[in-house]
Amino acid sequence: MNLLYRYCDVQLAVEDRVITRTELLEGVRGKQGLLSMITDRVDAEVMDANPQLKVISNYAVGYDNIDVEEASRRGIAVTNTPGVLTDATADMTWALLMDIARRVTEGDRVNRSGGWREWAPMFMLGKEVTGSTLGIIGLGRIGKAVAKRARGFNMQILYHSRTRLSREEEKQWGVEYRELHELLREADFVSLHAPSTPETRGMIGRKELSAMKSSAYLINTARGDLVDEKALVKALSQEEIAGAGLDVYEKEPRLAEGLKESDRVVLAPHLGSATRETRGRMAEMAAQNLIDELRGGPSDYRIND
Ligand code: DGY
Repeated sequence: MNLLYRYCDVQLAVEDRVITRTELLEGVRGKQGLLSMITDRVDAEVMDANPQLKVISNYAVGYDNIDVEEASRRGIAVTNTPGVLTDATADMTWALLMDIARRVTEGDRVNRSGGWREWAPMFMLGKEVTGSTLGIIGLGRIGKAVAKRARGFNMQILYHSRTRLSREEEKQWGVEYRELHELLREADFVSLHAPSTPETRGMIGRKELSAMKSSAYLINTARGDLVDEKALVKALSQEEIAGAGLDVYEKEPRLAEGLKESDRVVLAPHLGSATRETRGRMAEMAAQNLIDELRGGPSDYRIND
């Protein structure tokens, strides 16, 4: 923020909360730059509210909250914060994967409610992570960081991605390519790392969930709308899959009906990048992007032409 104050007149939404639509529309008026959060829907209406807008700097790597096409049409630069949140998000993926596989949160609930009476050989058995098969959907920065961690657990690592890596890269990352349904059939854990686009929205639906093993788990730290949540709730209740570790949801912060009633899910409130270090780096990068664009750009992290 100091960086912004050094170069710009800043109107800051000081409270740590989502600003209302009216606050966004009024706040953007007369400004050249907007530093937006993923909770701000930046569409034509926002751009209409301020024809002087030159740059939208998103405080996130994902930018599905912004109508990038509309921004491009109007010559507004859009930037994001890739790279700096890769490790935090990959760590969170692993936190959810380990939690759901080894029933940590569920065990915590059992313990707090006095449900643990004694150690027993068959009590609360989970799935062994070491040596199992991980399927990664979307092998960008975060997907690769998840794969890197998986190697430490001696996992077989399958991936499905829009573009296939070269043989050398596959060897380097220790990953094997699979068509989507092959990956779903083979993996013990399926972890999503694709962006939310018209092509990926709803990519994990009824058919995909029933292709997964009944002993498999779904992990989502990418975007909620990659998964058809209704179908997920059904798959969980009908034991078509063993469980899910979720950080993101179709309609945040609302949870789909039936999700929180299930013991087979761990539900984090979109914490993928939520470490003090990462959020600090994201803030610096978003501020720098905004300044670079206002100075004529292009910044290193412009998304559009
Ligand atoms: C992102 O950056 O896209 C995360 O979801 C929020 O930090």
